[in-house]
Formats: sequence, structure tokens, C-alpha cells
Amino acid sequence: MNNIKDHENLEKKIVLLRLDLNVPLKDGIIIDETRINKILPVVKFLIDNNSKIVVISHIGRPKGKVAKSLSLKPISKNLEKKINKKIRIINDNILNLKKENLFNDSNEQIVFLENIRFYEAEEKNEYSFAKQLASLGDLFVNDAFSCSHRAHTSVSKITEFLPSFAGLQLNTEINALKKVTTEIKKPVTCVIGGSKISTKIGIIKNLIPKFDNIVIVGGMANNILHFKGNKIGKSIKEENCESIINEIFETSKNHSCKIIFPQDVLVGKNINDISRVKQIDEILDDDLILDIGPSTVNTIKKIIDRSKTVLWNGPAGYFENPNFAKGSIEIAKAITKKREDRSIYSVVGGGDTVALINQIDAIKDFNFVSTAGGAFLEYLEGKELPGIKALK
Ligand code: 3PG
Repeated sequence: MNNIKDHENLEKKIVLLRLDLNVPLKDGIIIDETRINKILPVVKFLIDNNSKIVVISHIGRPKGKVAKSLSLKPISKNLEKKINKKIRIINDNILNLKKENLFNDSNEQIVFLENIRFYEAEEKNEYSFAKQLASLGDLFVNDAFSCSHRAHTSVSKITEFLPSFAGLQLNTEINALKKVTTEIKKPVTCVIGGSKISTKIGIIKNLIPKFDNIVIVGGMANNILHFKGNKIGKSIKEENCESIINEIFETSKNHSCKIIFPQDVLVGKNINDISRVKQIDEILDDDLILDIGPSTVNTIKKIIDRSKTVLWNGPAGYFENPNFAKGSIEIAKAITKKREDRSIYSVVGGGDTVALINQIDAIKDFNFVSTAGGAFLEYLEGKELPGIKALK
């Protein structure tokens, strides 16, 4: 894999820079800037080398449709301040763009393409879209490790048309995760939560042989509770997951890996509600499960206390409402408490999880903080990520 740092002459070269600027937003406001801060080194490096930068990123899942609320505008404004350089967003359809017209003048050094997932072709990893995108630059840099599990045009197919390089942050993440997986100390506990159920549920089965405990919290736990015959009210849930969940429990029988899921939960009638503790057989049709309950927190704390390595991806609840942040905060505290006496190695990953850890000022208390969520889990699974394979 070639690294952009080793490129000999970047002067005036147009660099198509794939970043993951998929930051958590609430009412259009960025609630965590970690993913932006992590790509500052590559942006500064390219600026210092007098390249011209075309930033490509997605935010959210607009599924091939233009959605005003998922514009990259607030992110480009944030980056503008951080690098002290004007950034223009190009709103024109990518299919109509020409390389020679991308920059207004010789002084302009950085432009953004609008959310790449406004184009249906992006997620289809389409050949002709990749060719057109590639025609806009001289070389391609992937500094979006957290998107590298996606075989999408701007991550994968584009590399077939341009000299392609790994970015600085992508390299850092891969080196750190390589170290984690080769030097891992048992017992290992993996805590998986968050709301991206479809991305993560298929991965769990493959993690079972590698870990001692898999703790399932957040949205995914609802699917487990439902599978076990419990009511989950109006809570989020993925359809058609029964056979995957069955396989998870069957596989765990053949390995010494315990699957832990909530015994009690916090519910509300809507996401802005106050919280009420409920046992899992007390959930009503109009309840929303929004966090884990106190008994579950205690179980998880004991497991963490007995672990030598903890890998954590995805919050335990809807932490954006402080009434449902307790489960995630208690997990964070249990990990960082063990870190004080250096008896645990901890890695945390994913946009929302990092946002939560930042909110409680605990970033420094983890051994490694990855920007990646799904990509982090797929890497742990031992899979070669499409975006990384494409760079080789
Ligand atoms: C992430 O947040 O993990 C990446 O931006 C990938 O997003 P996705 O799960 O929507 O592909």
C-alpha cells in the first residue's frame, strides 16, 4: 500500500481526497468534531505540498437522494476555520464537472464535492461513475478508514482509474488495530451497541471464536430481546434477523464465549422523555427502549472488571438525551477505572461512541480511539476491507 507521505511531487496535483466527515449532527449542529480533527494532518500535509484538494465524503444515509439536512456545508465551514483557508462547496452534478473548471483561480486550494451519497451510483460501486469521478483528479487518497468496509465508488472502484494512496489517518488506524489484534491479552470483552443494527449483527457470529464475552447493548439488543420472546414496544429493530441471531447463540455454544444482553432496560414514550426502569417482561406496546437498566449495568461492570482487554463500539442507549446516557457513561467509567491501575487495554471506536466519550472528557483514558465503527468491527473479524484491498 503506497502512502501519500512518500509521494515525490505533489505540487499543483489535483488530489481527490476521500474523508469520512460523517460526524454526529443534531439539528444541523456538529456535536462531535473528532472525525474532522483527525483528518487535519492530511489536509495540512497536502496544503503544505501545494496540492489542490477535492474533498469527497458522505454524511448520513440519504440513499441516492438529495437531502438538504445532509449537506456537507456545516462541516466545510468548520474545517475552513480550523485550517484558516476558504473552502468552496461545489453543488453542481458531478457528472457535469470538468477537471479544468474545478478551481476558480490559482490561489484556490481546497473545494468540497457535496455529499457523495446523494448519488445512487456511489453505493453501487459503479464503473462509469468511478471513471467520471476519477477524471476530476490526478491522484486519489483514501484517508477514511472508517468507510473502508464499504465497497463504494469513492472508496473502492475509483482506485481502478487513478494512482491511489493511503492517507495519514488511515495508516495510523491500521497500525494501531494491527497491534491490538496481534498483542491482545485475554480475557477479551467486546461491547457492541449503537443503532446501525444491519451493519453489525452479521459480524457478531464471526467474533465469537475470538472473544471471551460479547456484550450486546443499544439498538441491536432489541433484536435479541425480541428473538427471546420479549415485547419491545416501539423500539428500533431490524427485520429478518432471526436466523442470524439463532446462529449467534448456536455458535457461542461451541466456543467459550458468553453472549450478554440486557436483563432490564430504561424506557420512555418518546426520545425526549424522562426514563423509567423496566424489567424485560414489563415492556408495553407504546414503550421505547432507550438505554440499559441498572442490573444490566452491574453485570457489565463485573465482566469488564474481570477483563484484560475491552473493545467497545456503539453506545448503550440514546445518550443524546441525558436521561438515557447512564448506561454508556457507566460502561466508560468501568473501563477507565481499570485503566488507572493499568490492568486493562481498551480500544473504543465509532462516531457516536467517540462523541459520548468526548462529552465526559474521557478520551485520554482509553489506550486507542478509532474513528471507525463498522470498519473497526469488520477489521476485528479478520476481513480484508474493500477500501484497503483497493489500495494494494
Ligand atoms: C461510519 O459512521 O461508520 C461511516 O461513516 C460509515 O457509515 P455507514 O455505516 O453509513 O456506511
